[in-house]
Amino acid sequence: MHAELNPYAPGAGLRPPVLVGRSAEVDAFDLLVARSRRAMASRSIVLHGLRGVGKTVLLNQFRSQADAAGWLVVDVEGQLSDAGQLVTRRRLARELALAARRLLRGRTVSEAVRRALGTVRSFGAQFGGVGLSVEIEPVAGRADSGVVEIDLEELVEDLAPALREQQRTLALFVDELQDVEPGLLAALLSVQHRAGQRNWPFLLIGAGLPNVPATLTAAKSYAERLFDYREIGSLPTAAAAEALVVPAERAGVSWDPSALDLVVDTSSGYPYFLQTYGAAAWDLAEDRRITEADAVAGLERGNAELDAGFFPGRWATATPAERQYLVAMSDDIEPDSSTSTVAERLGVAPKATSQARHNLIRKGIVYAPQRGRIAFTVPHMRDFVRRQAELDLVD
Ligand SMILES: Nc1ncnc2c1ncn2[C@@H]1O[C@H](COP(=O)(O)OP(=O)(O)OP(=O)(O)O)[C@@H](O)[C@H]1O
Ligand SMILES: [Mg+2]
Repeated sequence: MHAELNPYAPGAGLRPPVLVGRSAEVDAFDLLVARSRRAMASRSIVLHGLRGVGKTVLLNQFRSQADAAGWLVVDVEGQLSDAGQLVTRRRLARELALAARRLLRGRTVSEAVRRALGTVRSFGAQFGGVGLSVEIEPVAGRADSGVVEIDLEELVEDLAPALREQQRTLALFVDELQDVEPGLLAALLSVQHRAGQRNWPFLLIGAGLPNVPATLTAAKSYAERLFDYREIGSLPTAAAAEALVVPAERAGVSWDPSALDLVVDTSSGYPYFLQTYGAAAWDLAEDRRITEADAVAGLERGNAELDAGFFPGRWATATPAERQYLVAMSDDIEPDSSTSTVAERLGVAPKATSQARHNLIRKGIVYAPQRGRIAFTVPHMRDFVRRQAELDLVD
């Protein structure tokens, strides 16, 4: 069918044609917005889950809800590399300066806003070298120590009166939370903690891999109680079917029930797979109907695409020793493996595997669902690793 009309959206953070199965989270965020309007304190939300389940899409959805409520919105993303860490800090400073402009409205600038912008300027000068393009002097001695934990706190403290004056909230959206460098992460958590105690209108809203709750708690033990942690996972069967059927219906296209069942089953309800298979089946179908034969061919094409992009992206970053570790994990049919069994398969003591395991966790390929267990962060990665191991044997 016409590829230019293909409604499906396989990709990182790409908004799906219909956002299904997430109304509980969308409502929870609406409640946060409503409470903040009344200056009522709430626990903020942190999303966690496997790769490709729709965390970024949901975070973006929250962001537009916040934007519509007139909040000051800042977006950053954790990045592992040293250069990436600097980029995250710079971006934070720049986005804060841009967001703070929203405080300027009308001709007169209140004292609270003037002071807030002054501090934003000194923070920007310290961390990002960005100006505000308005004639406001930086406030000496505020948010300019160079220590991010102190400066971020002073910044939010000085923004609070201006935000309250205009009934706004400052929202910091942080994706890939597990990759935020420890210094900045500790600063973010500590500001959220302080904001709750002092009733500053500030919320840190985050998303990341399944290890995020544990990572935050390791950074600051009170982080456990700081957030409403929500696990984002695969979609239940009915929602998964809706994700495929509704966009097609809108274009006057129908799915044969057997075709639909096949794609829903094979995807196990994982949003990224639904979009990938849906897009491939659509392209292969003729007329205004997706048949079982189209679905079968769509799965084959979809799998080839996944094998060319989604999976190897992670595999490529693993060293030979780390790959051996992944291959040893893939012997298990269960979603997670015992670390001592994996070591046994590799014929070494568990301690000898800890470096590879640690690196794989840092790279976001695996995570520890509980002590002594290890699992893939990427759904269906196990099967890919097995195929890869067989290819390597042939080579
Ligand atoms: N609720 C949903 N219904 C249908 N499709 C969805 C839904 N949420 C996300 N998707 C689709 O799933 C794919 C992955 O979404 P997204 O990039 O947000 O996942 P993620 O959890 O952030 O993944 P990663 O951990 O790799 O960053 C996209 O193609 C998106 O269109
Ligand atoms: Mg994401």
